[in-house]
Amino acid sequence: MKDSVRITAIVGSYRKGGIVDQAVDHILLSAREEGAETSKIYLVDKHIEFCTNCRTCTQTQGERRGECLFTDDMDSILDEIDQSDAIVLASPMNFGTVTAMMKRFIERLVCFAYWPWGMTAPKVRNKQKKRRAVIVCSSAAPSIMARLSSQIVKLLKSASALLGARTIGVLFIGLAAREEKQLLGKRTKDKAHRLGKRLTADT
Ligand SMILES: Cc1cc2nc3c(=O)[nH]c(=O)nc-3n(C[C@H](O)[C@H](O)[C@H](O)COP(=O)(O)O)c2cc1C
Repeated sequence: MKDSVRITAIVGSYRKGGIVDQAVDHILLSAREEGAETSKIYLVDKHIEFCTNCRTCTQTQGERRGECLFTDDMDSILDEIDQSDAIVLASPMNFGTVTAMMKRFIERLVCFAYWPWGMTAPKVRNKQKKRRAVIVCSSAAPSIMARLSSQIVKLLKSASALLGARTIGVLFIGLAAREEKQLLGKRTKDKAHRLGKRLTADT
């Protein structure tokens, strides 16, 4: 029997139960309906230090991520992603980009690059993309405006690539700040549902 697909979602919203969180829940629910095992990591619950640009993690060659000097929750998050077939990277748009919390997480992904002192630019250690990724973003502005005027999707796609995942879908939720406890609309739920299914597909 085929092992079930494992999906790990990384939530960079400060609000549990907010729009981003609801969208992630719908994606994961639909994936579970297809037999996937899912888990959700709230960055807000995790202890993650800022990358200090010491570059210790980038000095040694090899495909495996470099070791960071910090002992925080980053290693266990990355280990969990290592064990996953698919990921969801989710963040609201704040000041035109991901939340500071998501950015802090992304900066720590420099460990996936080989970049010894003396080398001008980093080189990604392993360009294989054996996992699938779905990106979730939300904005107060209409989605088309927010998407076109920012690099948020590009940034989350690069983060997915560093995590060994190719992005197979983007859920961008605009007009997401009209009410304090806004609920997802039907079209967004339907799209989330479809993306959850696609995350579990073989190809
Ligand atoms: C500090 C801050 C900055 C924000 N910046 C933007 C922005 O640049 N563009 C935008 O469309 N919405 C912006 N918003 C609105 C958030 O994107 C919106 O509240 C969020 O997508 C809702 O997601 P959540 O329910 O998961 O928190 C901002 C909100 C905050 C609190």
